[in-house]
Amino acid sequence: MCIRDRSVRSEWVIGIRGIVVGRGKNVNPKLPTGEIEIHVVELGVFNKSETPPFEISDKIDTGEEKRLQYRYLDLRRAPLQHTLRVRHRINQTVRRYFDDQGFLELETPFMVKYTPGGARNFLVPSRLNQGKFYALAESPQLFKQLYMVAGFDRYFQIVKCFRDEDLRLDRQPEFTQIDVEMSFVSQDDIFKMMEGLIFTIWKTVLGKDLLEKYPSGRFPQMPFAESMEKYGNDKPDLRFGLPHTDVTDVVIDHAGGGVPFWKDIADKFTSGQYRRDLPTEIVKAMRIPADVAGKLSRADLDKLEDFVKGMGAKGLARAKVDGTGAWTQSPLAKMLTEDMRKALNEKIGAKEGDLLFFQFGRESVVHTVMANLRIHLAKKLGMIPDFGHGGEFNFLWVVNPPLFEYDEDKKTWAAAHHAFTRPHDDCVELLDKDPGKVLCYRYDLVLNGFEIGGGSIRLHDPEVQAKVFSALGIESEEARQKFGFLLDALKYGAPPHGGIAVGMDRLAMLLSGAESLRDVIPFPKTQRGTDLMTDAPNAVSAEQLAELKIRSTVEPTPST
Ligand code: AMO
Repeated sequence: MCIRDRSVRSEWVIGIRGIVVGRGKNVNPKLPTGEIEIHVVELGVFNKSETPPFEISDKIDTGEEKRLQYRYLDLRRAPLQHTLRVRHRINQTVRRYFDDQGFLELETPFMVKYTPGGARNFLVPSRLNQGKFYALAESPQLFKQLYMVAGFDRYFQIVKCFRDEDLRLDRQPEFTQIDVEMSFVSQDDIFKMMEGLIFTIWKTVLGKDLLEKYPSGRFPQMPFAESMEKYGNDKPDLRFGLPHTDVTDVVIDHAGGGVPFWKDIADKFTSGQYRRDLPTEIVKAMRIPADVAGKLSRADLDKLEDFVKGMGAKGLARAKVDGTGAWTQSPLAKMLTEDMRKALNEKIGAKEGDLLFFQFGRESVVHTVMANLRIHLAKKLGMIPDFGHGGEFNFLWVVNPPLFEYDEDKKTWAAAHHAFTRPHDDCVELLDKDPGKVLCYRYDLVLNGFEIGGGSIRLHDPEVQAKVFSALGIESEEARQKFGFLLDALKYGAPPHGGIAVGMDRLAMLLSGAESLRDVIPFPKTQRGTDLMTDAPNAVSAEQLAELKIRSTVEPTPST
C-alpha cells in the first residue's frame, strides 16, 4: 500500500495506515469524527466503485424509483442507516422486554392452510400435492392460539406477515408484526403489558419518557361507537380537535327542517324504511371554530368541495355563523326553518364566526369523507404537520366495537374481526335476538391517527362459539371445513386467552417521523407490489409451471 495514488474517489473502499492527531483549532463538532484527523502514511484500494447513479448524501432529490432500484446504495445514506438502527433497537427492546416478562419467543409456520376471512392471502402452489395450494400466513393468529392450548401461556414473536392487499403508504404486502398471546388474562392485562412495552420502547429508542404525558402509565380508552360518531373512523388522530356531530336525530325530529334532501332521509326513518341502529343514511356536521375558520379563503373552500368529491361525496354543504346565529354564505340558509337552524346550532355548539360543514347520505361514505376532511383541514390549518409526529405522540385504545358488521348488500351479519372474538358476557343473549347490539372484547391501539396494533380476547367456550357461528350463518359442517383444527384443539381444555399484534413497520415509521413504510423497511415493495431492485415478481418458465400443473392465461410479455 502506498500513498502515491491520489485518485481515490467517493464510494471506493480503501484501507489506510497513519497517525491519529487532534484537529486543534479545526475541531468540527458537527462531524462524528470532527475531533480528529489521520495523517496517512500508507493507503491501499480494496475496491473501486463505479460512479453511483445518485449522490450518496443525506439530502437528495433523486426519485424514489431510482433509489429503490439501487436500494443497497440508498441504504448507505445516513437517514436510512439511522432508521435501520432504530429498527434494530426496537427489535432488541421488544425481545428483552418480553423475555423479562416471562414470554417465550416461539415460531409459527409461514406456509399454512388457507382459511377464509381476513385479508386476501398469497397462494403458493404445492408441487408434491398437485392442484393444491398453501397460503402464506397473513398472521400467526391460529397458531398462537394453539400455543395457548398447548400450555405456553405467554408467547411473542417478531414475525413476517403476508397480505395481498391494495397498498398504501402505511401498507406493505410483506410486513412485520410484534405478535403476542397470553392465557388467563383480561383485556386490561393485555393493555398494561403493551403499555409497558411502548413506554420502554419510547424510553430506550427515543429517550422520551411517556410518563410526562401519561402519568398513570396508562393510555386513554375510547369506545368504538364514540370514535365513529366524533371522528368517522376507529383510529382518530387526537393531536387536534375538530370533532364531528351526528345531527341525524335533529333532522328526523324536524322532518328535514326545510331541506329537501334531509326531508327524504327523515321520511325514510319515520316511515320505518330505515332503522337508526342499522347502517343507512346519516347527516353529520363539523364545526371549524372562528379562530381558525378565518384562515380559509373562498378559493380554499371551493377546493375542499373538489377534495370531498374525489372520495365519492356529492358535494360539501357549508355555512358561516353570524353574531345572531344566522347562517350566511350557504345555500342551506334559504331553505332551513328557523327552529331547525337553532336546533342545529345548539347541537353543534355553533358560535359567531364558526364555519360549519355538512355531509349526508350513506353512513359509510359520510364517515369516510368527514374523517378524511378532518385530517385534511388539520394539516391545512397547521394543527398537525403534513407528515411526522411534530414532537407529539398521542396514543389511544379504541375499545368495545360491535362483534358483527352489517353487510348492506347481502343484508346479513358478518364477523367484523375474526370469528373467534369473544362477545361481552352481557351481550351473549343478544346473539340470536339482536346481533347488531353485541359488543366484543376487541381493541385497537392508535397512535397519531394510525392503527399501530389490534387484537382481541378469544372465544374459548364451545357453547358461545356455536351461537356466534349460528348468528353468522355458518353451519357446523362449514365451520369444520374452515377452522376444523382450531375447533378440535379448543375441545381439549383450552384456557381463556387473548392477544394483540403491533405493526412493527408502522411503529418504526411513526416513531422516527418517516413519511412512509418504505422509509423504514430495508427492502420494501412499491405501491404496485414490485421490487425494483430484483425485478420481482417475474414470469417463470413454462417448464416450472408444467411441473406445478399450472397454466397461465396471461400472455408473457418481456416486462412480466
Ligand atoms: P391486524 O390485522 O389488526 O391483527 O394486524 C395487526 C397490526 O398489523 C399492522 N398491519 C400492517 N402493517 C403494514 N402493512 C400491512 N399490510 C398491515 N396490515 C396490518 C397494523 C395492525 O394494527 N392476528 C391479529 C392480531 C390479534 O388479534 O392478535 C392481526 O393480525 O399496525
